[in-house]
Amino acid sequence: MIKPFVVCGATGNIGSRIADILLSTGEPVRIIGRERARLGPLASKGAESWPGDIGDTAFLEKGFSGARGAFILIPPRLRCL
Ligand SMILES: NC(=O)c1ccc[n+]([C@@H]2O[C@H](COP(=O)([O-])OP(=O)(O)OC[C@H]3O[C@@H](n4cnc5c(N)ncnc54)[C@H](OP(=O)(O)O)[C@@H]3O)[C@@H](O)[C@H]2O)c1
Repeated sequence: MIKPFVVCGATGNIGSRIADILLSTGEPVRIIGRERARLGPLASKGAESWPGDIGDTAFLEKGFSGARGAFILIPPRLRCL
């Protein structure tokens, strides 16, 4: 199985474009955002949805597990849990 790229902020301006480009080239993509519903449009193109908060380190550890690479960002109002 090909390891996925993880895209944080996948519902945002930059992450959504990165995820779209990767998906259009056939790469497996794991998308992160806080709400599953907002990840829906990319999930319908084949991305693997990982809804959660990137302030949650346990969530991030699982989300990045087995990844080939990642686009990461520090959200404007990151709240450390
Ligand atoms: N756009 C620019 O021109 C520009 C220029 C310089 C730097 N940057 C930086 O680049 C980064 C991305 O910019 P952008 O324009 O793509 O931002 P954006 O459109 O505001 O998107 C932010 C993304 O972060 C997600 N997000 C926010 N808080 C989160 C949290 N606690 N857990 C999980 N996901 C969270 C949002 O998803 P949900 O709301 O769906 O959870 C959304 O997908 C930011 O750090 C920004 O400061 C952007």
